[in-house]
Amino acid sequence: MPARTPIVAANWKMHKTVAETEAFLDRFLGGIEQLEGVELFVCPPFPSLPAATERCRRSRVMVAAQNMHAEPHGAFTGEVSAPMLLELGVDGVILGHSERRAMFAETDEALASKVPAALGAGLTPILCVGETEAERDADRTEAVLGSQVEADLAEVDDDRLADVVIAYEPVWAIGTGRNATPEQAAEAVAFIRSLVAGRDQHAGGSIRILYGGSVKPGNAAELLAAETIDGALVGGASLRPGDFEEIALAAADSSASPAESSGSGADGAAGSQPRTAPSSLAPPIFPKVQTGFPCPRSRWSFSMAGAWLRMARATRSPRRPRPCSTSSGRATRTRPCRRAGATSACPMGRWATPRSVT
Ligand code: PGA
Repeated sequence: MPARTPIVAANWKMHKTVAETEAFLDRFLGGIEQLEGVELFVCPPFPSLPAATERCRRSRVMVAAQNMHAEPHGAFTGEVSAPMLLELGVDGVILGHSERRAMFAETDEALASKVPAALGAGLTPILCVGETEAERDADRTEAVLGSQVEADLAEVDDDRLADVVIAYEPVWAIGTGRNATPEQAAEAVAFIRSLVAGRDQHAGGSIRILYGGSVKPGNAAELLAAETIDGALVGGASLRPGDFEEIALAAADSSASPAESSGSGADGAAGSQPRTAPSSLAPPIFPKVQTGFPCPRSRWSFSMAGAWLRMARATRSPRRPRPCSTSSGRATRTRPCRRAGATSACPMGRWATPRSVT
């Protein structure tokens, strides 16, 4: 099974001017220079993106926007397109955040266009899904996650599914100070993974799925230790460089294997390496297990969900290194390379190059 490198992303929402963005990064970048085993994103508001990409250019931190339109250009007042973000040196984009779904009428239909548009442009989509409190109370969590994941990824080719990052963000946990328990988060993330595996088994093992909702220094280690969770999308706590750094450290720690963490075992020194599953944890040949979740489209095989859920509960979660990223040293980017010949550096033939040369 492939290993997965955790991601920690700072969703600043409508916070931080350009000057505040620069001040944050001046402090934060110094603190995480030596940090390995985790990919970091900051996601400022649009006006601060140029300052962020400029500051992060020679760092290991990537920059994502908080929204984009699916079309590359057109009569869409107030909107921003993928080529515009790329021109600023942006690496990714948050899509489908619950605040956009609830307050700005972001629909699954729109997201079905935005996610492949982001991928096609070379941006990493960080797709947010999650249930409301009423939906959880009505025992509809899996139904909601199922329909969001299915609809939002419907137009993504199977061989690009693993390039999407999904953030499971229960709406009731966002900005409330009331995080999901590690068990709730891990269960939902495992379910989402099972949905992706139903489309493509390899993608199910490779895709990074984050948890978001009141993550803070005090709960990050516990949440990120959960076996299926590959990092965090952090709102409020990411506004303070010290707090965000602590969360990033917790994620880096979570990517060390138990033997590495405890300093025992033959490979104990390699603490920054992503965890890799022993061969006994190879992906299962999914048996037919019915979960009861209705599958409206034949493209999705929810019969696999039960197998994935059981496996996720029973095993450690291996991490997946991003193609062409190194697990040591500074500033290796994982963005599509448009330079002729540069793809030869990429073992998968499509991702490339240290940021300093892009
Ligand atoms: P929060 O926000 O960490 O403040 O709960 C998370 C998010 O909205 O992504």
